[in-house]
Amino acid sequence: MRYVRFLKTPRVVAEKSTSRNEVCCLVTITSDLGDFFLPYDIELSAELLGCAGPKEYVLVWKTVQWTGGMRSLSIAIPLSKTQQSWAGLRVRVGAGPKRTHDDYASLSEQDARGVVSAWSATFAPNVEAQKLVERRFKPPQGPISGIWEETGESIARHLWDAGIALSCHLVELTNKNTELSKALLPPVVSSPLRVLELGTGCGMVGITLAQTIADARVTLTDLPEAREIVQRNIDTASRAKGASLVFQELDWDTEIPLQLQKSLKHLALVVAADCTYNPDSSPALVNTLSRLAKMSSGVIIAVAMKMRHSSEEIFFDLMAAAGFQETSKIMFPLPGDEEIGEEIVYLHVYKYATCS
Ligand SMILES: C[S@@+](CC[C@H](N)C(=O)[O-])C[C@H]1O[C@@H](n2cnc3c(N)ncnc32)[C@H](O)[C@@H]1O
Repeated sequence: MRYVRFLKTPRVVAEKSTSRNEVCCLVTITSDLGDFFLPYDIELSAELLGCAGPKEYVLVWKTVQWTGGMRSLSIAIPLSKTQQSWAGLRVRVGAGPKRTHDDYASLSEQDARGVVSAWSATFAPNVEAQKLVERRFKPPQGPISGIWEETGESIARHLWDAGIALSCHLVELTNKNTELSKALLPPVVSSPLRVLELGTGCGMVGITLAQTIADARVTLTDLPEAREIVQRNIDTASRAKGASLVFQELDWDTEIPLQLQKSLKHLALVVAADCTYNPDSSPALVNTLSRLAKMSSGVIIAVAMKMRHSSEEIFFDLMAAAGFQETSKIMFPLPGDEEIGEEIVYLHVYKYATCS
């Protein structure tokens, strides 16, 4: 997958020759790590949206061309006088015109090239957009879910491939006969289902779980730097009936805080997505998983990862040495490959051996 990112967020400027106003922004299309630019040509739709409360209207749209080899693309959208009177404007840039969301199927279309759309924050002629971008996903039978991330380079404060791939498949948990349900849910699902997410980043996986499973009690954890963006996403997220979402700080390099320990009794599921990309962090991550497994007998551990380098395999050795047994491995091919299977997210599911 690749992501449209705002290098310069949209703003209203006067066009030099005519002094008419237009909305300008600068975008790029990169991998989650920011290490690869989209190497293919793709026609993008650049849209100016007028916001009235929660409703949005497409005021102007135009196609813009990204060409393989590019590193950035400047976009200008004309802005009429009447359009300037909207209290809030937003810009969407993505594949396919006038889309209200992305989903796995649309991202997998040949023309979409696995490019995830960006919705800017609101702005107005005299108000700059915050340096945030919204990603919008929708499961086949569910509401559109918006997740905010920052436009900067922080590891924690933007979305990663494994988190999106896992989140987009979590809808399968609503059918107890799917491979994913059999792997992740206990044979007898106790209510409430207590879930903990490690390294939640912007919170997409945990939030999607709380939107999917009624009565789920989901605790999202990460370092303090993630708190602001994840809380923003929690505050705006819908939830399945009876489900709850909270954020707590949890650093794998320290003991699990006492206050958090109390709320973690009877955990059924621990999830982590794209938390194994840095082999130096794997010992601390596995230590934390061991502590959690000892606290909650029978807990299922699900780790989604896109292997970027063979050094990340140390995670598997450490898990085996700590006494975890892999019980399932599920493949999620990522949208946007030239050939299917170029980029794959695997979900590794474990149980603590002494508990089985
Ligand atoms: C690559 S991001 C993945 C974020 C999210 N799970 C996703 O898939 O979009 C890795 C996450 O692990 C968190 N992390 C890294 N080291 C950590 C540590 N020692 N303790 C807790 N979280 C950590 C980072 O802050 C970051 O949010």
